[in-house]
Amino acid sequence: MELATDLNSQVLKVGVHEVGINGNCWYAVGWADQLKSGEVMPVTIWHQAIAVYRDASGQLHALEDACPHKGVALHKGKVQGDLLACRYHGWEFNGDGQCVNIPYLPEGQKLPCAQVKYYPVQAKYNLIWLFPGDRTLAKTKALPEIPEFDDPDWLMVPSTAYFQAHFSFCNENSVDLFHGFLHEHQQGWFDPVLTRLQETESTVKAEFQVSYKGRLAKFLGLSAHANQVATQPVVVEYQYPHFSCKLQTMSSNYMMRLPVSATESRSFVFFFFKLRLPHWVLKPLEPALRVLLRRLLILQFLAQDVEMVESEQLNYLKDPEWRRVEINPAVFAVQRLMVRQYMQFIEAQTVHSSSIASTHSTKGSSSKKQSPTAIGVSSDAVRS
Ligand code: FES
Ligand SMILES: [Fe+2]
Repeated sequence: MELATDLNSQVLKVGVHEVGINGNCWYAVGWADQLKSGEVMPVTIWHQAIAVYRDASGQLHALEDACPHKGVALHKGKVQGDLLACRYHGWEFNGDGQCVNIPYLPEGQKLPCAQVKYYPVQAKYNLIWLFPGDRTLAKTKALPEIPEFDDPDWLMVPSTAYFQAHFSFCNENSVDLFHGFLHEHQQGWFDPVLTRLQETESTVKAEFQVSYKGRLAKFLGLSAHANQVATQPVVVEYQYPHFSCKLQTMSSNYMMRLPVSATESRSFVFFFFKLRLPHWVLKPLEPALRVLLRRLLILQFLAQDVEMVESEQLNYLKDPEWRRVEINPAVFAVQRLMVRQYMQFIEAQTVHSSSIASTHSTKGSSSKKQSPTAIGVSSDAVRS
């Protein structure tokens, strides 16, 4: 659906900065090459603590990070073959979360029924991806497409960001190209104009015309001289729950958002640059260029964004009812999408729970239903 691009003042919605997530999506939780065979890594997706381990054959597994014996965090444990042994008494769990061995159980004695939740997990783009929701849906949901990842024409610079802020603040920052002012000393962009805004059930696409000037613009091939102004289209896409931002065919970045808690988020970020150098020149320079671009450019941009977003979060916590004013319609579209996705997840969970309940009730047992507030926001998340 096409949306108006006028910059009209509106009051920000209440509740969006506490909204929960749609768990029926894949979330990046760590870099795949940083988890070797035999290692365990603790991760958190929206309050769910998960132990991810790579078994002796290199296979990834993800288990709820709490031993069903006494509740010790399983990430403190040890990988034994394809099993994860809890650190405390050595109970061993397979990738399906079943306890398959208790080292001190007398021979012939039946194992107790001890099961932890397990999560679909996979590696792609050197990232570990987890699916925290209904695991029967995992195969039906796609990972983001990152065509530049395997393309030798692009120089890739990966990075990680940590925000002490709810993911909604980070998402608003990503679609808000009107904040070039913040990055003026990094020779970021200026004079942005929102030219087109579209939304669907699961996406927001915002197109801008943006101007660049300076050494960075020349380096990226946007202009022939550092003092020449180049105006280019930039497309920002929020494909829930992740972002991409593309500047013509010269640079693009992908931000994989990891909501951790109501006041913590992480991002796994890829920046891609198309440099006008032949492959044989570029290839040996790539490691050094990666370090330089990360230090001199990307980390500085990220640090400035982190500071702003964390400042918003702090002031939000002081007064969550304070009605702030916004004029960028793309921000409102992103807010609507976050709330819509969360409400869809709650509805899907309710349907799923009821169908389990009706199955179980015929067997004489009951099921637990998760209320919206248990995940993080009241159902009137978008009171205007
Ligand atoms: S607490 Fe895990 S084995 Fe005892
Ligand atoms: Fe920024």
